[in-house]
Amino acid sequence: MLIDNIGTLVTNDPEIGTVQGAALVFDGAFVTYAGPKGSVPEGVDGERVDAAGRAVIPGFVDSHGHLVFAGDRAEEFAARMEGRPYTAGGIKTTVKATREASDEQLGGNLDRLINEALRSGTTTVETKSGYGLTVPDERRSLEIATPRTPETTFLGAHVVPPEYDADAYVDLVKGEMLDACAPHARWIDVFCEKGAFDGDQTRAILEAGIKKGLTPRVHANQLGHGPGVQLAVELHAASADHVTHVTDDDIDALANSDTVATLLPGAEFSTRARYPDARRLIDAGVTVALAADCNPGSSYTTNLPFCIAIAVREMGMTTDEAVWAATKGGALALRRSDVGHLAPGARADAILLDAGSHIHLAYRPGVPLVAAVFRGGVRAG
Ligand code: NIG
Ligand code: FE
Repeated sequence: MLIDNIGTLVTNDPEIGTVQGAALVFDGAFVTYAGPKGSVPEGVDGERVDAAGRAVIPGFVDSHGHLVFAGDRAEEFAARMEGRPYTAGGIKTTVKATREASDEQLGGNLDRLINEALRSGTTTVETKSGYGLTVPDERRSLEIATPRTPETTFLGAHVVPPEYDADAYVDLVKGEMLDACAPHARWIDVFCEKGAFDGDQTRAILEAGIKKGLTPRVHANQLGHGPGVQLAVELHAASADHVTHVTDDDIDALANSDTVATLLPGAEFSTRARYPDARRLIDAGVTVALAADCNPGSSYTTNLPFCIAIAVREMGMTTDEAVWAATKGGALALRRSDVGHLAPGARADAILLDAGSHIHLAYRPGVPLVAAVFRGGVRAG
């Protein structure tokens, strides 16, 4: 397939860069050419798409979601907008609904969210468990997720369910629950926060997961300052997520690590909280990703253009940085080298925008600018 007459092509490739007047060629599921439209190799066959001066960017890589759940919490959101604060307590409402749902209901809701995300340009999604919080419910959450995305994360340590005391639950998570879930997950995550899991508990659970072959990521420093970021760096986590309440030491640690800071502005938007300071992180040398954190409590959106617009307007990111963070940044947070960029050999995951450049994603907030989505070389949305 040849996508020709591209106005602006964002490749995220250090050598190719961003090209004006570009073309993109897919052979099957992979990119074979990305560059000036005058230099397309001879003999490209298959469908020809005329971009007519519009922009093409890599498909969004959403590296943080909680998509396996049932029900919603619209009333909780409305109450919050009337002044009630967000606490992790609401998670229990979704746990109850999720436990009561059938596999078909959970799978159907997950499909709905993945399709919704796809329509706004997301071609790679990560999802966590974390609304089951029993051995069978956590395992089935991951079993339902794995056929739909390879990026599955065991988040048994989301909150302590009401029927357990904390120590007994931590023992369960790092013992029997981990044994049941590890075969169905790539990652392990802990909500390290006051009201969820403290530093010692987080470390014990992540270390148990590492022993089982999972790679850690951490919900860190969302609601207040805590040990999450430092622990993430120390344990070589792929990402520390949220990263809102941080000290200079936390930022130094991240800057000198291979841990990506994944910022989730949908959560601050929907909990009316302070946004993380992306400018401060980037200026210090931290690698930043943007993700949607889709979940029914703190951020019920799958829309990365929305997150990009907030990141630019409220978090000090440039338009280039925000688009990079939602594509290449997400890929780095998932340790994926095949997605998040458009260069020969990369997966043919791309978005055709109804605009001449990627800047419009932040410049025209709320406008559905995704004209077409290609996933694995196939037009998907
Ligand atoms: O990332 N922080 C913990 N988990 C979610 C919220 C989950 C919920 O409120 O249901 C988050 O914001
Ligand atoms: Fe989250």
